[in-house]
Amino acid sequence: RRVAVLLAGGVGARIGLEIPKQLLKVAGRTILEHSLIALHEHPMVDEIVIMMTPGHLDAVRAIVAKGGYDKVGQILEGGETRNDTTLRALDALGDDDCYVLLHDAVRPFVSARIIQECFEALDSYPAVDVAIPSADTIIEVGDENTIREIPPRAALRRGQTPQAFRSGVIKAAYVEAGRDPNFVATDDCTVVLRYLPDHPIWVVNGDDRNMKVTEPIDVYLADKLFQLTSNDLPSPGDEGAYRDALAGRTMVVFGG
Ligand code: CTP
Repeated sequence: RRVAVLLAGGVGARIGLEIPKQLLKVAGRTILEHSLIALHEHPMVDEIVIMMTPGHLDAVRAIVAKGGYDKVGQILEGGETRNDTTLRALDALGDDDCYVLLHDAVRPFVSARIIQECFEALDSYPAVDVAIPSADTIIEVGDENTIREIPPRAALRRGQTPQAFRSGVIKAAYVEAGRDPNFVATDDCTVVLRYLPDHPIWVVNGDDRNMKVTEPIDVYLADKLFQLTSNDLPSPGDEGAYRDALAGRTMVVFGG
């Protein structure tokens, strides 16, 4: 059994509206519904659990009923932090072993290729992350806002979601985390890395388009990105097709 969990329990403080950002509409649908469609349409997803910000579950029930998303088995309240929300979702899965894929509801551009590669990797690895190389140099800063370290870029990646796990492994990692009074994390792979360090975490190549709607400007960027996907953009990773398309943009020099 393959379960996808849509993590939509946040309040969107950085966007700062009355409603959580996953309920904002881009390209005619809420961000949450775009993410839900990506999971729902995927043939490898058997069941979907949606974790929603307390007070906003009715909005999700309405979206699910109207769209007829019949893979959605449960719609539940999220917790205080993202990790609390994950923990609640894991509790709702039951005792049978399954593959669980955890996805941020605010990443509406997740591709079918990424979801497929995550589930396939779980046949060989207990945990899977999705990440992309960084074009920007990543620096580590100290308390005084001065640079502490500039790690070599070649080994660095920017983590995205989904993250996927064998259910027994992620549950065991959270049990260990629950015993640690100093537990802090912002994602789920960190929990496995820290508390079950002998479990390798495979990294699937993410996608530049798999952006996270975080700041107000991201809502506008997401809107534009949806327009691009519906036009005829070469598929991500198809370098040859991109180069061909870009050849039409080179400056033509006459008589040269
Ligand atoms: N999330 C969650 N439960 C929480 C906090 C976050 O399920 N208690 C989810 C968010 O809904 C989002 C994803 O985790 O889909 C990534 O989190 P983030 O972008 O930080 O969302 P928010 O917490 O809503 O944003 P902010 O930090 O600006 O408040």
